[in-house]
Amino acid sequence: MADIAFERIEVRPLAGSLGAEIAGADLAKDLDNQTFDEIHRAFLAHHVLFFHDQALTPQSQAAFGRRFGPLNRHPYVKPLPDAPDVFAIVKEPEDAHHFGNGWHTDLSYTEKPAYGTMLYALEVPPYGGDTMFTNLHLAYEALSDGMQKMLAKLTGLYSNARTYGPNAQRFKDGVLSMAVSQQFEPGRVEHPLVRTHPETGRKSLYFSELHMAGIKDMKDEEAAPILKFLAQHAARPEFTCRLRWRKGSLAFWDNRCTAHYAIDDFQGMRRAMHRVTVEGDRPF
Ligand code: SIN
Repeated sequence: MADIAFERIEVRPLAGSLGAEIAGADLAKDLDNQTFDEIHRAFLAHHVLFFHDQALTPQSQAAFGRRFGPLNRHPYVKPLPDAPDVFAIVKEPEDAHHFGNGWHTDLSYTEKPAYGTMLYALEVPPYGGDTMFTNLHLAYEALSDGMQKMLAKLTGLYSNARTYGPNAQRFKDGVLSMAVSQQFEPGRVEHPLVRTHPETGRKSLYFSELHMAGIKDMKDEEAAPILKFLAQHAARPEFTCRLRWRKGSLAFWDNRCTAHYAIDDFQGMRRAMHRVTVEGDRPF
């Protein structure tokens, strides 16, 4: 990480595990190719980037997202009326449920989970509402050879039932201001538990606790202890960093090698974000 040279941007690592603050880029502008290339390199090196003091419209946020690839339209959350590639993540003071409140990687219950997610803060509580991230490369590399070999042969089963199914907690908790649809796909999607990053070639655990439904060819009671271990292991503090949001912050995370957790500790306060998601590939 340390030997990457940057000329247009300043990259300040936030933790030993992952995450860097980026200064020197105005994301509302059409970035020149060198600045974009440096941001892309920083993204691959640090896995989650934080840009503060940005002034983005939904259109300029989406335009920045499109520099990385085609944008995803979320299967269950309604987009903004004037920006079909952007949706709002809002928790009103009276809401009982916080979107993303559990370790997950975005859209892991689909055939082609997200490449990256950009979350832009419009309104944040005076305290609380942080987001945590964990580095799934480090989580994989800290496992024993024996565990790595065993996991490499296993296929995870992913489902959106826990987050979008009729029994999902968000629909039971009480007030839910976000327009989230319950029309979930009952099918289960298969992805390897160990994946290779398509751009860097580095291996990582692929684990999305909120969406894990089992392990292929295993009984539930056999898979459960493995999944429980992986959930605890992936969230070890040494692999994580934590973002304290400010109004105007944008976080951009790599869903192919990280998981994140939106902390629900700001009851009675409002938090409002805009999300843009870059389409990904099938994990291998
Ligand atoms: C998400 O998981 O997309 C939302 C994360 C957050 O609101 O912090």
